[in-house]
Amino acid sequence: SADPLSVHPALPAGRTGVVIAAPAKLNLFLEIRGKRPDGYHDLESLMVAVDLFDTLELRALPPAPPGPGAIALSCDPPGLSTGPDNLAYKAAAALRTRVGRPELGAEIRLTKRIPAQAGLGGGSSDAAAALVGLNQIWNLGLTRQELVAIAGSIGSDVAFFLTLPAAWCTGRGEVAAPEAGTGGLHFVLVCPPIGLGTAGVYKRLVVPAEPVPGDAVRAAFRAGDAGALGRSVFNRLEAPAFALEPAVGRIRTRLGGLGPCGALMSGSGSTVFAVCRDREHALHVAGAFRATRPADEPESRVLVVRSFTP
Ligand code: C5P
Repeated sequence: SADPLSVHPALPAGRTGVVIAAPAKLNLFLEIRGKRPDGYHDLESLMVAVDLFDTLELRALPPAPPGPGAIALSCDPPGLSTGPDNLAYKAAAALRTRVGRPELGAEIRLTKRIPAQAGLGGGSSDAAAALVGLNQIWNLGLTRQELVAIAGSIGSDVAFFLTLPAAWCTGRGEVAAPEAGTGGLHFVLVCPPIGLGTAGVYKRLVVPAEPVPGDAVRAAFRAGDAGALGRSVFNRLEAPAFALEPAVGRIRTRLGGLGPCGALMSGSGSTVFAVCRDREHALHVAGAFRATRPADEPESRVLVVRSFTP
């Protein structure tokens, strides 16, 4: 399959720049190793990219010395912030500061398909895509490693999206080591209409005295064994997220009861996913989930996705 962070030179006629696809991620494993003096938590996580994408169309704007260049971000559909708190904007600002070129400007058109506040890393992926694309159109010549160093200052998950398609992440999440695997795993994503803020979930977390080891999940992922993977997925953030939003916990329980290999919440939620044997199995589980929704359960977006082959 294609490199999920590939740069596509083809743009509508008359436009110059790059278009980059920014994939969503799932955490197949997330364990907390301890709380750090800086307020963050040390963790271990197996993160994999799946074929649900935002796209970024990037174009250099004429430099505007002596003042800072414009970072003109727009978003379709509208609704997200397009200012300095958007991670793609943050990435552009951090990149030009890092190279001492504040006069650089860019137009960023973001097409949003990954639900926000959903544990799918959409904002972080947009930021990574912005780093890659702006490095190219601004002709900065930074290496992947230099971009990774900037990524950590934007958010804990951004480095993963420079280490696609699968990584074992440690530190506060920003130390991403490529993970081998056969890829092509099938998942059902269930995105409830409930946002869960990462900081709020971590606040409710109880750091485990005996962390669960990730060996089983890594072995299952490497072998591409959906059955073993489904039995070994784990996320320490489920308990605090379900305490905050019991409806998300009920959705995870219901999804897990429909015959997938396993079911889990991704990241700090609110998306939950089912691990499936193949596409037919995933379509079956997705159909069963839609068909059996209780009247008091809010309607979720249900998507069938696939991981990439490392
Ligand atoms: O790095 P990011 O901006 O994604 O983190 C959002 C919030 O989640 C942090 O401010 C922190 O409260 C919490 N967090 C944490 N430990 C991590 C990652 C995030 O406590 N490893």
